[in-house]
Amino acid sequence: MIDRMQLGEVPEKPHTVFRDRAGRLRHEECLTRAGFDGEYSILYHEGPPMTDREIGPADPGPFDRRVPIPASPVPLKRRLLLGEKSPPGWTPVLDSADVTVSLFHLPPEAAGDEGFCNGDGDDLLYLYSGRGTLETPFGDLPAEGGDYVLVPRGVVHRWRIEEDLRGIGFELKGGFHLPTQFRNPVGQLRMDAPFTHRDFRRPRFSGPRPGPATVLVKKGGLFVRRVPLASPFDVVGWDGTVWPFAFPILRFQPKTGLVHLPPTIHGTFAGRGVLVCSFVPRVTDTHPDAIPCPYPHASVDCDEVIYYVRGSFTSRKGVGPQAVSLHPAGIPHGPHPGAYEASIGTRATDELAVMMDTFLPLSLTEQALGLEHAGYHDSWVPA
Ligand SMILES: [Fe+2]
Repeated sequence: MIDRMQLGEVPEKPHTVFRDRAGRLRHEECLTRAGFDGEYSILYHEGPPMTDREIGPADPGPFDRRVPIPASPVPLKRRLLLGEKSPPGWTPVLDSADVTVSLFHLPPEAAGDEGFCNGDGDDLLYLYSGRGTLETPFGDLPAEGGDYVLVPRGVVHRWRIEEDLRGIGFELKGGFHLPTQFRNPVGQLRMDAPFTHRDFRRPRFSGPRPGPATVLVKKGGLFVRRVPLASPFDVVGWDGTVWPFAFPILRFQPKTGLVHLPPTIHGTFAGRGVLVCSFVPRVTDTHPDAIPCPYPHASVDCDEVIYYVRGSFTSRKGVGPQAVSLHPAGIPHGPHPGAYEASIGTRATDELAVMMDTFLPLSLTEQALGLEHAGYHDSWVPA
């Protein structure tokens, strides 16, 4: 999805005889998208990747990300969720047919030995804090607070956690891609794109190794447990364009204009009906009379979600790290009282946040209501 990679041993041509030194035939695993029309990677396993000793329904334990019946008693209301209060594990907070947004807090013991495979969507995570290594058939991917991590749909993986991982996850049910305007006709990131190929941290491949003895698979919100015959990580080589990556948010190259530019300049990743943006520290607008704070606007088409990481956010007051705001389509929104005028003359912002715009309206989950900060909607009324 970023570019093509090739690591380890692969045969000269796909779908041809490829044996080890003892003459044993290796097994291909073609990981394809959009049926056989989209991007793909081909992995070469020592053992058959499709054979299970057992398979059956499972209790997901710490991997549970089921979305209970959504509860949105007053849909058109601005909400603030206090993410720092989210319990260990996964806490789904917002949901639509395109994306499920979850807060996560994964302590080292939550990782366990089991592998996980999400059949429902690509998992785009933003790590607020922590440190760990994502183990995958493509290799190991170290990640820490400040990184986005993409785990493509259908990839067996396991976290080795050194420090509790906290953050926000976007399960993209209609695929993941880079915004198309960043690509040139051959798919390379353009010279004026807000990041380069070099900014993506790629898997470190060291050949076949023991993997999880069991794999929990999520599909349609249900869970099954596989007991594979061979290690899912017994890969001798792979090539293709589908692979997990990490991307440090501070590698995003922000743009500044004469006057305030719309949020599209912060666009970083995209999915069906979803745009994820990175608000990173930057100099602000250069016009002597510029108002750097975002202008009030009518959210005609999009629900807007912001996950606050650090710094003083120019448009909002009273929001802290790990808080999640939801400003739904249908009602106008804008800066908190006083923030608009107070921003005049500022020349830089230290804000760090992740924003998501969605075209389909989001429903709040029961868990979200338990994290809600009452009175947020009314905080726009002057005191
Ligand atoms: Fe907005």
